[in-house]
Amino acid sequence: MAKLLKFPNNFYWGAATAAYQIEGAVNEDGRAESIWDRFSKTPGKVRNGDTGDVACDHYHRLEDDIQIMDELGLNAYRFSIAWPRVLPEGRGKANVKGLDFYSRLVDGLLEKGIEPFATLFHWDLPMALQDAGGWLNRRIADWFVEYAELMYKHLGDRVKYWTTLNEPNVFAFLGYNIGKHAPGVADEATFVQASHHLLLAHGDAVRAGRTLLPKAQFGIVPAISHNYPATDKQEDAAMVEAMWKGWTCMFLDPIFRGTYPVTLDGQDFPQPVILEGDMERIAAPVDYLGINHYFSHWIVQGENGHPEWIDKDLPKTDRGWIIHPDGMRDMLLKVTEEYGRIPIYIMENGASYPDEVATDGQIHDCERVDYFRGYISSMHEAIEKGADVRGYFAWSLMDNFEWEEGYNSRFGIVYVDFATQQRIIKDSGRFLSEVFRSNGLELEK
Ligand code: FCB
Repeated sequence: MAKLLKFPNNFYWGAATAAYQIEGAVNEDGRAESIWDRFSKTPGKVRNGDTGDVACDHYHRLEDDIQIMDELGLNAYRFSIAWPRVLPEGRGKANVKGLDFYSRLVDGLLEKGIEPFATLFHWDLPMALQDAGGWLNRRIADWFVEYAELMYKHLGDRVKYWTTLNEPNVFAFLGYNIGKHAPGVADEATFVQASHHLLLAHGDAVRAGRTLLPKAQFGIVPAISHNYPATDKQEDAAMVEAMWKGWTCMFLDPIFRGTYPVTLDGQDFPQPVILEGDMERIAAPVDYLGINHYFSHWIVQGENGHPEWIDKDLPKTDRGWIIHPDGMRDMLLKVTEEYGRIPIYIMENGASYPDEVATDGQIHDCERVDYFRGYISSMHEAIEKGADVRGYFAWSLMDNFEWEEGYNSRFGIVYVDFATQQRIIKDSGRFLSEVFRSNGLELEK
């Protein structure tokens, strides 16, 4: 008999997407430009010059896509709202057609018994706000609250789970520290200040939500991978701890403790401009922590005290991301140890492979099936050991515009032929569908 790992009752099983990565229709029905429209159209920024102009054309295929979710047996779906679709200028006049789109999405989900998990910011800032300083202008906290309140009022009668920001750590690092993502800035001080404003906006939007929607759940979703020291040298262990503080605690300490972390050598970091009252604003209590987890790293302390990533003889995805399912368990237990037994949702987890349609018309993505089996079973172990995980979302519902990789990196559990927009459920989608429907994972057939 195969071993079945059962998950807690009422566990949420879903898939995740993000507006810019799937919707397309960037110039339709009053949607305005976002920083990703601008960035993807800047030569050299995205592989093959791909843009999100059409993406999965989800804006026009909403009903069909909900049908696929139903077929897959999801009981939850995580999507993001495109700020420039509902507030083209970023603030001020709302765009009714944009609001209607999300309303139809939510209604369609609820009709199928799928719980909507809405994310307010998954990186597509309206260009009008970028022109006014974007995340470097402190007033963005007010702009974000205005936008959040609009959505709370519009969807709050039906949406219970709200996420303020998707991966503020990745957004700020790639967008402001190394310039690989929009808005394309590479400057450390700027990165630190933008991060601080992201946190301020988050805290204010949570507080605004409590007033308008007292029964709703509010949280944030950082990316948290897991790092191991590559040797048993003390300095490598210290390096791993420093990375934990710099990458994870820098965003979570302000929220859970109302302070920025202190480095191992006792220095405060980062050094943004912090005004009186900021830390209290950021520390508005959250109901859950969402986590995106994809890979692990092995690290040593390199020259000048900087981390060095060590290549490991372990399987990797086509992005070169190391597959190490135990990292899921170790990360979940570390977060629980550090911040207490807070409710956690895995909001993204998945793998990119160069899928091909086989002669039978199907996509036999057995490596992705193995990936999901490993990571879900590791999550189960973490739950048994005390992590309060309440839901799991595969990244992604379907192949989509994968930021700087364009359409070259496929993460979907549903295949998309971008020339015809045909969707095909991959073997991994069928595999997950069994997990979702049985609320359990059969370890080996
Ligand atoms: C995460 C992003 C998501 C997707 C995956 C692969 O960092 O949140 O939009 O690109 O990575």
